[in-house]
Amino acid sequence: MIAASAPAKIILLGEHAVVYGQPAIAVPVSQLRATAMVEPNPPHVLGLRIVASDLGEMLPVAIDGEVVDHALTLTARLVLDTLQLPPPNVTITVQSAIPVASGLGSGAAVSTALARALLVACNRTLPDEVLNRIIFEAEKRYHGTPSGIDNTVVVYEQPVYFVREQPIERLHFGAAFRLLIGDTGVRASTKIAVGDVRVLHDADPTYIGAVLDEIGQVVRRGRVALETGDTEALATCMNKNHRLLQILAVSSPELDQFVESALAAGALGVKLSGGGRGGNMIALVTDETAEHVRIALMKVGAVRVMETTLMNAVHEDIAQ
Ligand code: PMV
Repeated sequence: MIAASAPAKIILLGEHAVVYGQPAIAVPVSQLRATAMVEPNPPHVLGLRIVASDLGEMLPVAIDGEVVDHALTLTARLVLDTLQLPPPNVTITVQSAIPVASGLGSGAAVSTALARALLVACNRTLPDEVLNRIIFEAEKRYHGTPSGIDNTVVVYEQPVYFVREQPIERLHFGAAFRLLIGDTGVRASTKIAVGDVRVLHDADPTYIGAVLDEIGQVVRRGRVALETGDTEALATCMNKNHRLLQILAVSSPELDQFVESALAAGALGVKLSGGGRGGNMIALVTDETAEHVRIALMKVGAVRVMETTLMNAVHEDIAQ
C-alpha cells in the first residue's frame, strides 16, 4: 500500500482581504494531515476508483464518469491530463484528520494528498508549481473565487507571504512563536463568507475597500514582526486584524467569545483564522500563558485546542 499526504494550514493574517489583492500570511500545520492510500483494484474492477468515505458529505467518485463535478474527480483528471496518461487500475482511499469547513484548508489538503498518491501510482512526479495550479482548479469547486493561498501553503508546505497572482515568497521567522488553535466546532462555508464580503464590498466599495487596505497594512507590519521576532508587534497586528474582520462581518458570537476568553487568560494576540463565521481561531501565547489560555478555550466550549510553533526549518507541532 502506497500513501501520500498533505498538511492543514492556518492563516496568520490577511484572510478575506487576500481575495482583493492584499497580502496574507499562512503557515502549514504539519501534525494535522489528509492522507491518500493506493491499492491495486480487485481483478474484476477496471479504472481509477476514488473513495472518500470519511469526508463528511463526500461520496465515492469515479474518474470515468461523463461529468467532472467533484473536486477530487477534477483533481485526478487534471493530474492524468497533465501526465497524458490513462487512469491506472487502482483504488485511492482518501482520509483526513482535518475538520472540514473550519478554516484549516481541508479541501486543498485532501486534493493534494490525492494528487500525490495518484502520481506515485503512475510512477511519475510533477513540480510543486504544476501541482499547485491543479489544486487551485480543484479549490474553485470548494470556494468559488479562492485567492489561491490555501493550495499554495498546503502544496509547498512552507510558511508563505502570499499576494494573489504574484510569485510566492517564503517567510522566515526571527524568533519562535507559540500559537494555540482553538476549534469552535461550528462548521461554516468559506464560499458563503467570501460571497457575503463581496456583497458588503459592492454596497460600499469606498468604506469596505478602506477596511481591506487596512488589513493589507496590518499584514505588512505583521511580516516585519515575524521576521524580526517581535512578539508584541505581531500580537498587536493579530488583534487589529480580528477587529477588521469583525467589520467585514465574518466573525461570529462563538469566535468573539473565544477571542475574549483567550485574551482574558493572557494570550497576547488573538484572531479568527480562515473563512470565519465558525471554524478556528488562533492565539499567540507564551510559555507562561499557554496552559491558562488552553484551559480558558476549553471552558468556553472548544472542541479541540491544538498547538503549533512557528520556527525556521523545523515545524514542531504538538497535539494537545
Ligand atoms: O476558510 P479557509 O481556510 O479555506 O480560508 C479561506 C481564506 C479566504 O481568504 C477567506 C478565502 C481565500 O480564498 O483566500
